Order: sequence, then C-alpha cells, then structure tokens
Amino acid sequence: MSGDPVLGYPVVVGPGALDRVAAIARGRGHRRAVVLADANVESYARRAAASFDGAVPLRTFTLGEERKTLTTLGSVYDALAELEVDRGTLVVGVGGGVAGDLFGFAAATFMRGVAFLNVATSLVAMVDAAIGGKTAIDLPAGKNLAGAFADPVAVVSDVRALETLPPAQIREGLGEMVKHAVLDGEAAFAQLEHWASESFERWPWAELIERNVGVKAAVVARDRLERGDRELLNLGHTFAHAFERDSRYALSHGNAVALGLRAAGIAARTWGPWSDRDQQRLVALLRALELPTSYGGLDVGGVLSAMRADKKRREGRLRFVLPRALGDVVSGIEIDDKEVREAVERCTR
Ligand SMILES: NC(=O)c1ccc[n+]([C@@H]2O[C@H](COP(=O)([O-])OP(=O)(O)OC[C@H]3O[C@@H](n4cnc5c(N)ncnc54)[C@H](O)[C@@H]3O)[C@@H](O)[C@H]2O)c1
Ligand SMILES: [Zn+2]
Repeated sequence: MSGDPVLGYPVVVGPGALDRVAAIARGRGHRRAVVLADANVESYARRAAASFDGAVPLRTFTLGEERKTLTTLGSVYDALAELEVDRGTLVVGVGGGVAGDLFGFAAATFMRGVAFLNVATSLVAMVDAAIGGKTAIDLPAGKNLAGAFADPVAVVSDVRALETLPPAQIREGLGEMVKHAVLDGEAAFAQLEHWASESFERWPWAELIERNVGVKAAVVARDRLERGDRELLNLGHTFAHAFERDSRYALSHGNAVALGLRAAGIAARTWGPWSDRDQQRLVALLRALELPTSYGGLDVGGVLSAMRADKKRREGRLRFVLPRALGDVVSGIEIDDKEVREAVERCTR
C-alpha cells in the first residue's frame, strides 16, 4: 500500500474500516502490533485488535483533555515496556484527538520512535487531529507544549464510529470543517450549506471527511514543520484561542473556532475584498450547523489582552489569517487594534 500521494501514508476512510486495520498494517509491512485505546471507545479498539491473526494485546486508558499529561504519558510508556514493544512492533492508537496526540507522542519517543497507526474515532480526529503528523501532550504551562512531528504509518477512520459520538462532539468537528471549506472554496462551502439542514445520519460522512483530509493534507504538504504556509490552518484561531482563554474554557475549542471564523470575517470585511454576501453566507452556515456566532460571556478587554499575551509568547506582531474570498485565504495580515476590537465586540452581542 503506497498511501496518499500528498501525505506519503494512507488515510483510509469508510464504513467498516475498523475491521481492516490489520490488513492496512500488513500493507505497510507490519504484522506484530499492540493496541492502545481511550477507554470510552474500547469496543472499537477490540474490533481493531480482532482484525489481526492471533491475540493482540490491548490496553485502555481513561483520557480526556485533563489527562493529556506527562503522568498519563508515563503510564503509556510503562504499558509499552510491559508489552515488550520494540522497533518491530506497531503501536495502534484508537480514539479521538487526545488519544492520537498522546499515543502518537508516546510512539514517537518510545525507544526513539516506533511505528504508529492512528485509528481516529472522533470527527475532530478524522478531519483535523490525525492528519499532519503533529503529536503532543499538555504541560501545566500550556496546551500541546511538549510534542513531536511524527507521521503515522496510516490513519484509519471508520465513519460508523461517528454514530456513537455525542452531537456536541460532532459540532466540535464542524467548526474545523467550516474552516476547511473556506480554505477549499465554493464547491466545498456549498456542499456544507446543502447538508447543514439535514440530520447527521444522512450526511455523506466518508466523502466529507475525505475532502477535509485533502484540504489539510494540501496545506501540510507545503509546510510539514510549520514554518510558514501551515499558518493558513489557523484561520479563525487567533480569535478562537483568545475567546477560549477569556471564557476560562467555558467555550469549547470548536465553538470558539466558529466565533473566531465570524470575527475573522468581520475583520476581513474592513481589510480586503471579502464581501458582505460572503460574510452573510458564513454566518448563516455557522447558524444552520447550530454553532455559536456570538457569546455574551466574553469581556472585550480580556479577549484583547489574551491575544496580546499570545503574541508576546510568540515574540511576533499580531497577524491574522483572513479570507479574501472562498478558496482564497492569506496569512500574515496586520490590522489596526480598533478593527480587532470591533470584530471582538460584535461577537459578544
Ligand atoms: N495534532 C493535531 O494536529 C491536532 C489538531 C486538532 C486537535 N488536536 C487535539 O485533539 C484534541 C481534541 O480532540 P477530540 O475533540 O477528538 O477530543 P477527545 O479525544 O477527548 O474526544 C472527545 C470525546 O469523545 C469521546 N469519543 C471519541 N470517539 C468516540 C466515539 N466514536 N463514540 C463515542 N465517544 C467518542 C472521547 O472519549 C472523548 O470523551 C485536543 O487535545 C487537541 O489539542 C490535535
Ligand atoms: Zn482548531
């Protein structure tokens, strides 16, 4: 199996893909494996393990963002040692973005790196976290502060797993899908507009996820180590991170991204050719997907200082990724404080 021509490894998306994990691993030259999983998706992990001939050891971990820590990483290393994982063993990680980031980082560093296969079970993982080769854990000083760039040997996304994902977690992924649609262009955006009024059970998930993988892969391939172009994936995120922080994380990342996309659109209106009609479509799509477009619990001054604190940490100036049109997004845009404030203010009412 050769893999995605852009990423260099296969991303297998489809119903029943869980039962093909061993075949996909074999296609990449791996026969011996251990399976690590988020305890919430143990049944899916069992199916992935059962696809191998013979018994494949399975270990589950209680995860969640608050457990994406050094302590949990320590227990993952202990499990890998206990299971006698060596350079010839494939580590299969099953779960959402937390599982992929944590197990992926463990595999990237255990014995200086063992092969990792990412089985993504949440929408965020399928459309975003599992693609691009970034792994990490959180430190007390901040999110994702310790990590590594390490590509998996394959990514497997069984769309049937989405049937058990709570709607609020589906919406976490929709924020990133709207972002990808703005990056991608008219056809992708219109496709989301079309499905927004239908119930999730009817959505053509495999097709939509493949499209999202394609958008992210194209950006990542131009900038694997995040030195430039990959910034485009931060569309809406300068605002979103500040919204999350100012709300003391009462706003989830996906909801903050929805607000952040609206804010970026407002800023883009005053800066460039992003039209009123584009902005109206963006806001209407977010609303149709039941994502927030305003949030009263924000303090405008607090959001602005969170943005400045973030800027200081990166020793840069406050620069934004803004849309010029659907499918035409640019990074490194400096806009006046007054206009940043205006965009934030409009998202609080
Ligand atoms: N590496 C990257 O490039 C990248 C990109 C985006 C996000 N991330 C990371 O991803 C994480 C967020 O990912 P997430 O939203 O998937 O969080 P998550 O992994 O915590 O999953 C969300 C919840 O859904 C549960 N779950 C997962 N799949 C399920 C299923 N099929 N059925 C029922 N429940 C299921 C999980 O147990 C969890 O409770 C964050 O830590 C973020 O930093 C990483
Ligand atoms: Zn995001």
